[in-house]
Amino acid sequence: MAATETALRFDPLTEKDRQRIARFVESNIGVQCPASKHSLVESRLRKRQKALGFSTLKHYIDFALEAKEGEQERIHLLDTLTTNKTDFYREIEHFHFLRRSLEARLAASHSRAAVRFWSAGCSTGQEPYTLAMEILEMQQRFSHFRAEILATDISVSCLQTAKRAIYPHETVEPVPLAVRKKYLLRSNKSGRDLVQMDAPVRKLVQFQTLNLLHDDFRKNGAFDYIFCRNVMIYFSNSDRESIIKRFAASLNPGGILFIGHSENLVGNKLEFSRVQPTVYQRS
Ligand SMILES: C[S@@+](CC[C@H](N)C(=O)[O-])C[C@H]1O[C@@H](n2cnc3c(N)ncnc32)[C@H](O)[C@@H]1O
Repeated sequence: MAATETALRFDPLTEKDRQRIARFVESNIGVQCPASKHSLVESRLRKRQKALGFSTLKHYIDFALEAKEGEQERIHLLDTLTTNKTDFYREIEHFHFLRRSLEARLAASHSRAAVRFWSAGCSTGQEPYTLAMEILEMQQRFSHFRAEILATDISVSCLQTAKRAIYPHETVEPVPLAVRKKYLLRSNKSGRDLVQMDAPVRKLVQFQTLNLLHDDFRKNGAFDYIFCRNVMIYFSNSDRESIIKRFAASLNPGGILFIGHSENLVGNKLEFSRVQPTVYQRS
């Protein structure tokens, strides 16, 4: 059935098709779509059905999962079914911890070797840019401090937004005013109240497409701090465990892993010791 059909029908998402979609998504990126998310999955798929003009949801699903020409749509489908919610200074205690940890490290050593950060599952960039602003602040006190931030995500559209680094003004509310003044440019050229991260903030962050489930982490070298927050919450226990093992291998000894507040490291007790809730140090 051609993607240009216009007479849309509202056939419900069948349980069999939800399972097909769930298998596709989980095997590609690890994100689970359990039966409890049936209506959420249905409404997101419906949007794609409409956008592409398929007459039924079933036709859209067959196209997206099976057609040779559906390759591009498979990327959209994965994007559509992942949660990209994020914020500047999300889970602020992590940044308080980071400040204390960096202060201790920089006071103890005058090495000019770059401290390396990885924001894994960076969504639209608020997490790595928060890190960048914190680093720039710290560099004012410790002039020998060098840093690199790698920010990765599976979502191409999120990474595009992240690289543009332009956000609605109301979303920078969590950024302290003094920090905003130094590192954000404000504009309302297009009639919208927007901010852009200033060049020094953007320059600190390298973006990369990376699938946490299937890609090799070793190509990116070793890190001192890894942030993987609110990403693995959607994964199965076994996928989560294997990713955490690979994070351990990507951290320098003594390196720190931050996870989201509703997550835990169950099953990965050997590689890490817990420093405070959701903050773990590589043994
Ligand atoms: C809820 S956001 C979290 C953003 C940020 N870490 C935070 O806590 O604010 C989850 C992100 O994980 C990404 N993601 C999901 N599965 C992924 C995978 N297999 N590999 C890489 N990124 C993935 C999604 O695209 C999404 O941008």
